[in-house]
Amino acid sequence: MNFLEKKICEEGVVLSPTVLKVDSFLNHQIDPLFMKQIGCEIVKRYKDEKINKILTIESSGIAPAVFAGLELDVPVVFARKKKSLTLTDGLLTSRVYSFTKQEENEISVASKFLNAGERVLIIDDFLAHGEAALGLAELVKKADAHICGFGIVIEKSFQNGRQKLLDKGYRVESIARISEMSADGITFLKSEVLST
Ligand code: G4P
Repeated sequence: MNFLEKKICEEGVVLSPTVLKVDSFLNHQIDPLFMKQIGCEIVKRYKDEKINKILTIESSGIAPAVFAGLELDVPVVFARKKKSLTLTDGLLTSRVYSFTKQEENEISVASKFLNAGERVLIIDDFLAHGEAALGLAELVKKADAHICGFGIVIEKSFQNGRQKLLDKGYRVESIARISEMSADGITFLKSEVLST
């Protein structure tokens, strides 16, 4: 098991066969040293890609994205899910359907923070149905920037998000890939980490 898989087994709570609670280190409380390791691991996988911008979405994508940005020394932009009082003009937007919440939301970033030709790594905490990931990809395309790939902390491989991204030709790197989960345990697909 890699360091994330171990942490998931120790601290994760399987709420149902499709929902994993990991609020002790990812979705509510953040373990900074652990999150730094996650950020570094994502960066290692994209070390040859000359990334110069990281894009994520509020809120739980921000922590791993910031540590990846620190490691690469590049800016981190997070898409907003709600309209901001100060974010008024020059917006790039896309629509994201949440299967979990069964609602569609508009996500946005200021166009001045995503520029044509930039090489963007998209980071998020979970990959489930891939809707958030595709919405973020659309923002990058609208900016005429280049998508180098996706860095995902936890992928639920029994849902179709990865396949949707692969079908569009994107590279997907997930640190933990869950193939099955129940109260009895969690099964992972092979995902070797590059860090020690
Ligand atoms: P999708 O974007 O891949 O299609 O996923 P979906 O609509 O199903 O997910 C909506 C929200 O639920 C996202 O967070 C996503 O990260 C989260 N999520 C999906 N599956 C799980 C799970 O098994 N466990 C946990 N803990 N979260 C899951 P969000 O609502 O945007 O939350 P946040 O980023 O503000 O924390």
